[in-house]
Amino acid sequence: MSTLAGKHIVLGLSGGIAAFKSAELCRALVKAGVTVQVVMTEAAEQFMTAVTLQALSGRPVYTSQWDPREANNMAHINLSREADAIVVAPASADFMSKLLHGGADELLSLMCLARPLDKVPLIVAPAMNREMWSNPATQRNVAQLKADGIHVLDVGQGDQACGETGDGRMLEAEEILEDLEAFFSPKVLAGQQVLVTAGPTYEAIDPVRGITNLSSGKMGFAIARAARLAGADVTLVAGPVSLATPRGVKRVNVRSARDMLQAVQAHVPERGVFVATAAVADWRPANAADQKIKKDGSGQTPELSFVENPDILATVAQSAAAQKGDLFCVGFAAESHDLLAHATAKRARKQVPLLVGNIGPATFGQDDNALLLVDAHGARELPHTSKQALAVLLIQDIAQRLGGAQA
Ligand code: CTP
Repeated sequence: MSTLAGKHIVLGLSGGIAAFKSAELCRALVKAGVTVQVVMTEAAEQFMTAVTLQALSGRPVYTSQWDPREANNMAHINLSREADAIVVAPASADFMSKLLHGGADELLSLMCLARPLDKVPLIVAPAMNREMWSNPATQRNVAQLKADGIHVLDVGQGDQACGETGDGRMLEAEEILEDLEAFFSPKVLAGQQVLVTAGPTYEAIDPVRGITNLSSGKMGFAIARAARLAGADVTLVAGPVSLATPRGVKRVNVRSARDMLQAVQAHVPERGVFVATAAVADWRPANAADQKIKKDGSGQTPELSFVENPDILATVAQSAAAQKGDLFCVGFAAESHDLLAHATAKRARKQVPLLVGNIGPATFGQDDNALLLVDAHGARELPHTSKQALAVLLIQDIAQRLGGAQA
């Protein structure tokens, strides 16, 4: 479940063409279980009608500080006291400059100024032309807004409505949603470095053929995302899968088990967490051909022989950092039967403190799963639910173990 569910957010729109993305954002927030109260400046109404946002939020929109619907005629106080956060998207250059100076000549800025600083965070999503964004005045304002405790989201990069290309676009709705999700997530791994392997590996037979497996990478990607939401600095070493990189996660793409080992060794932290979810091919063809193997018409099939791949998890688990207890290693076991027995044996064999068992054929490619957490003391089940939810639970579990081990 989203950490946003049940929250009440005031969504403020200042004037900018990116306002069209705010309609999408409003919809996505409502879908995530947020109640959304929209407040618009007069400039915002040039780009988007209040009717649209009323329909999407299911609540009348506020556009004026003199709104007679408020019995005490203090919309700026009433609206800001109810909110779990105020999110201004788009935040125009002019609106940010107004925030900086404590300007309050219309409802949105007045409400931002009147918010209780200790209770109602203010999050702004800048949106403007690239020259306006890079102007020293704007950059100075951004730095000062941050220093004042306002959360300034990143800007996107790319084609702009004005026809120019560069930095300054407002983030897409789903990116803002993900940043809000991160904002509200408990930071149980703050300051930690986390390395995750995910997906299958691909072992070449020749330049056009190879051996791989049915791992989709979804569990590992969900774990990388959950670790980032929990405040960690996350690197994801991914085998060949076409999943989108979770926001805020560094991704290194690899193909074979040997590539994966190399990438892991280059990125494994001295202190932190290593989660090996990848379904690494156990063997690779002994002599991959440089050229495509052709049929010779005789009906003879090629002889394939195999050599064993390096065991990435076992290699990392035997490193000095892991042996000292500075690097907490988590293995996965994809089994087809006798999960507890195999997972227990695998934990001992790989010498990791925590091994997570799951039934491979039942979960490969699916969006949900069930996990069995096996440690030195026994086993605990995380029952069947979405991989995203399981990943959050697993990260919470790992954080608790770190609290004991690394505090
Ligand atoms: N693993 C790894 N490198 C390998 C094989 C496995 O890092 N060459 C990791 C996986 O990422 C997982 C754990 O080891 O975290 C167990 O993987 P699994 O394929 O279930 O186990 P195997 O060691 O291959 O054992 P078996 O094939 O006998 O089940």
